Amino acid sequence: MCGIIGILGKHEVSPQLVDALRRLEYRGYDSAGVATVDAGGRLDRRRAVGKLINLSDRLVHEPLRGHAGIGHTRWATHGAATEANAHPHRHGPVAVVHNGIIENFRELRDELIAAGIQPQSQTDTETVALMTGRHMEQGLSPVEAARATLARLRGAFALAFLFQGETDLMVVARKGSPLAIGHGAGEMFVGSDAVALAPFTDRITYLEDGDHAVLTRAGAQVFDGDGSPVARRETRIDVGATAIDKGGYRHFMAKEIAEQPVVIGDVLNHYVKGDRIVLPDGLDFAGVDRIALVGCGTAHLAGHVARYWFEQLAGLPCDIDVASEFRYREPPLSAQSWFVAISQSGETADTLAALHYARDHVARTVGLVNVGTSAIARDSDIALPTLAGIEVSVASSKAFTCQLTVLAILALKAAHDRGRIGDADLARHLADLRRIPGLMQQALDLSDDCRVLSEWLSQAQDVLYLGRGALFPVALEGALKLKELSYIHAEGYASGELKHGPIALIDRDVPVIVLAPHDALFEKTVSNMQEVMARHGQILLLSDRAGIAAAGDGPHATLCLPEGGGIFQPILYAIPMQYLAYHSAVARGTDVDQPRNLAKSVTVE
Ligand code: M6R
Repeated sequence: MCGIIGILGKHEVSPQLVDALRRLEYRGYDSAGVATVDAGGRLDRRRAVGKLINLSDRLVHEPLRGHAGIGHTRWATHGAATEANAHPHRHGPVAVVHNGIIENFRELRDELIAAGIQPQSQTDTETVALMTGRHMEQGLSPVEAARATLARLRGAFALAFLFQGETDLMVVARKGSPLAIGHGAGEMFVGSDAVALAPFTDRITYLEDGDHAVLTRAGAQVFDGDGSPVARRETRIDVGATAIDKGGYRHFMAKEIAEQPVVIGDVLNHYVKGDRIVLPDGLDFAGVDRIALVGCGTAHLAGHVARYWFEQLAGLPCDIDVASEFRYREPPLSAQSWFVAISQSGETADTLAALHYARDHVARTVGLVNVGTSAIARDSDIALPTLAGIEVSVASSKAFTCQLTVLAILALKAAHDRGRIGDADLARHLADLRRIPGLMQQALDLSDDCRVLSEWLSQAQDVLYLGRGALFPVALEGALKLKELSYIHAEGYASGELKHGPIALIDRDVPVIVLAPHDALFEKTVSNMQEVMARHGQILLLSDRAGIAAAGDGPHATLCLPEGGGIFQPILYAIPMQYLAYHSAVARGTDVDQPRNLAKSVTVE
């Protein structure tokens, strides 16, 4: 899940490569590098460990000239984040950038070592450069050499090759990992996604699996997996080249949390007209016998919340799974079932693979994606945009609540199509949903309280989150957010599960965050709270006015959420989860928008 970029341009290409890498940094930020070919055909590279800024600084002191270049931002898979492991990898006359994993690299590397070629890094990618360089040294042309290497590779890859002495040539290839070719006027581009290419062109050709292409400034010749020339469609993609800024907030995450009332309003305006739900034709649940909701991380948890809605409102059996398990579980599917892939980026390798599994097993597929140009959007029968706008912070916030809102609308549509609710009930539930943006606006006022509570939370080594019903997955999401942002160990549990093991962890040093609106399950959760307090556990109770009054003065602290939103209240409870994690991270001085070891888009399995 690295980001790659390549440009055959008209100007000095290093600044353009760095600009494009900035737009790809969500894919990884362990190291970055660029390679260029200058007017005299000299291939050279610069690499730096850590954030892109380190590479930019280096280029100021050691500039690279040339109008042809490739660049890379790395999320380390094979080998630590060192300069030697940073891309581009080079061997003699070739430099290579790669996103993905070469699964047979050990075997290939052993062959190279046996031939007397010594790798300089621990990466799988270097093998590609070593093999291609060797082929060229043996007399193959650059294109032939790249092809000979590609024929030996197993695994997932998006690759760009640049060659010494070739000022107007680049070879690119994809299998598994996405790759977009951009067409300019007398310039050509390639990138991991159209967003990276947006400042240069909106004319995009997506390579298909197994394709490779030979690029010159005059255009791209594309070849399919058999090596036959093939035409791939050029489309115009509007992703906007505007600069992405923090809008006065200290972090992107703070901005994105605050945007939620507006973007949820956008989702509702898009999918709900009066008391009617407007979804693409073909999305009818009347004859559907099962639905599978699949995603990774936060997106999976959105599906987990929605399961309660699909089952309770629509009486529709609903499977949820993490995408990495779904396809290997080999679940039986049928033409009467819907498979819903949930993904902010739309590029998550596991979710994409699960979608392909569902498609191959005849289920009808829906891609619930925030990035409308993504692979999951393109490969689904029906793509539903979640309309959160660009989410920059690696930790998901507004993308999650937008996913929840679209899923809520889908569940209501399913309930209505299946005759489980009539027009009046549909209108009542839609009215609840329409209240969410306003209630969220009130919930945003909890930021200061969350900041104060985070001074306490940020001292903890472990934190437990408890919830029942649809609040259970929100508790899981709260724990995930705290872990990824503040690096504090946190676990989410179904409240009723506490006494079956986790209660052994309770002492006065383990904060327990309880999500319990004053609803039908409240009394049961209060009993679980008593069990914690009897063992000197310190409770932070999130509830509404009635719940906080009913809980008495036992909790260590409380956060009062507004009432309303009906069955869709979990959307509201996401906000304090986000703020508690955000402020704890700020208190601990971690890198809020780009937490260690993470990447926004995970394009390797
Ligand atoms: O782009 P996706 O929604 O498919 O990404 C899935 C997960 O990688 C993502 O939700 C991850 O868990 C976030 N960092 C959560 O904040």
